[in-house]
Order: sequence, then structure tokens, then C-alpha cells
Amino acid sequence: MPNMPAPFVATLPKDKVTKYDLIQAVRADIVGELEAIYLYDAHANAAADPVAKAVLADIRDEERVHVGELFTLLKYLDPKEAEHLADGETEVREVMESLGIATNDDAGAGGLTVGSLKD
Ligand SMILES: [Fe+2]
Repeated sequence: MPNMPAPFVATLPKDKVTKYDLIQAVRADIVGELEAIYLYDAHANAAADPVAKAVLADIRDEERVHVGELFTLLKYLDPKEAEHLADGETEVREVMESLGIATNDDAGAGGLTVGSLKD
């Protein structure tokens, strides 16, 4: 588990968590999901048993869905965070463009993508 502080100092009555605390909790949840992906992926890759490999890979992919859900929730709760994430995406696309690498948006046109370079 990541070395992070508890998301809440005490058990709070329902609906008494501030929005800031909720946002911080979602960030901690994202860290937990990313760590889970890291571990399930390592375990799936290491497993010799095909059933274990498939089950662990399936669980890993479910955790990826959770990351997407949590990022979407974070962007809903904190629109400023959404702006920062969009800025980061734009910056990476600019680097890719400067290197002549098509972005995923261009993938439909048959261009190279980062994903296609891994295969
Ligand atoms: Fe999860």
C-alpha cells in the first residue's frame, strides 16, 4: 500500500465530509487503484498457470476501469483539476506532434500512436 495519511482523521457522520476532504480521498483512492494495477499486472505476468494469469489480468483491467471512474469523479468534483489534466494532455500531444507521432485522435487516420509503437 502507498504510504499516505488516512483520508479522514476520524469517523465522520454521513454527509459531514467537506468537499476538499472528499477530493483528497478520491486522490488517495486513485493511488490505491494504480498500485493495484501495478501488482495485478506483475502477478499476471509472473503466473505460469493460464487460469491464474487470465483471472489476474482480468482483475487488473477492472482496476483500470476504476481509475477511469475515479478520474471522472475527480474532474466533476474539482473542475480546476480537470483543467490541469487537460493542460497536461495538451502538452503531451504537443510533444508527440513535434516528434511526428500521431495522437490517439489521429489513429483513425492510420497514423502511428504510442500504443502502436509498443507492438
Ligand atoms: Fe478497484
